[in-house]
Amino acid sequence: MLVSAKEMLDKALAGKYAVGQFNINNLEWTKSVLLTAQEMNSPVILGVSEGAGKYMTGFETVAAMVKAMDKSLGITVPVALHLDHGTYEGCYKCIKAGFTSIMFDGSHYPIEENIEKTTELVHAAHNLGLSIEAEVGSIGGEEDGVIGMGECADPNECKSIADLGVDMLAAGIGNIHGKYPANWPGLSFDTLAAVKEKIGDMPLVLHGGTGIPADMIQKAISLGVSKINVNTECQLSFAAATRKYVEAGKDLEGKGFDPRKLLAPGAEAIKETVREKINLFGSAGKA
Ligand code: 13P
Repeated sequence: MLVSAKEMLDKALAGKYAVGQFNINNLEWTKSVLLTAQEMNSPVILGVSEGAGKYMTGFETVAAMVKAMDKSLGITVPVALHLDHGTYEGCYKCIKAGFTSIMFDGSHYPIEENIEKTTELVHAAHNLGLSIEAEVGSIGGEEDGVIGMGECADPNECKSIADLGVDMLAAGIGNIHGKYPANWPGLSFDTLAAVKEKIGDMPLVLHGGTGIPADMIQKAISLGVSKINVNTECQLSFAAATRKYVEAGKDLEGKGFDPRKLLAPGAEAIKETVREKINLFGSAGKA
C-alpha cells in the first residue's frame, strides 16, 4: 500500500538515517526500485518529475501503474509516490491522480508568492493525507553546459516556509542536480546547521544526491537530513549497462532483439545503485 512520506521521514529523523528518493522513468525503473527496497526491508520514495510524468502519459498512468505494481509484487515496505519539483498546477494534478506526496518547488517565486502558494497547497495536501515538501534556495545544476556551484538557502526564509506546516524542507546547502564541478567546494554544513537551528524537528531533504562523497552524506544525515534524492546515478548505471549489452551485439542474434532482454541489464544496474544508496543512507531494515 502506498503511504505518505511523513511517518517514514519522522522515523528517519529520530533514528538518524535517511530515506532514499529514487526517480522513476518507466516500468523497469519502478520495478527495480520497489524490489530492491523490499529485498532490503527499507522504506522508499518514488520520485516522479513533471517530465517523467509527461513521458509516462500523465500522472494518472503513473499512479495506476505504481499502485498495481506495489500490489502484484507483494511489496510490504512503506512506499511513497512523490511528485518531484512540482509546479503549482502539477501539484494539483498529482493530488487528483492519487499520489501520496508532493513537492511544490516555489523557489523561483518571490518569497511572498512562494508562501501564499505553499500555504494553499499544504491545506490541499493535508486534507487528503498527502505529505508535502517545499524548497528554499534554488538547487541548480547544469544549464547550457554551465554547471552552477549551488546556492545556500537563507535560514530565516527556511523558517518562514517551515512554519507553514510543510512536512519536509529542501534547503539549498551548495548541492546541485547532476554532476558536481571539479572545483565544487562541498556542502555547506554551516548553512545546514543554521537552517536546522531555525526549523527544529522537521526532516530536511538533500537534492542532488549523485556524486556527493559518502562522508558528506553521513555528516548531512547526522545534522538532520532525512531524505536524499538520487536520479543521475541511476541514469548513469542504467545507460552503462545497456550500452555494454548492445555493444556485445547479443540483441542482434537470432530473431532480432528481445526488448525485455535489452532492458534487463540496465534494470539490474539500477538495483545495484539503489542497494548501495540504501546501505549508505542507513535505511536498510527500517521498514
Ligand atoms: P541527482 O540527479 O543529482 O541525483 O539529483 C536528483 C534530485 O535531486 C531529484 O530531485
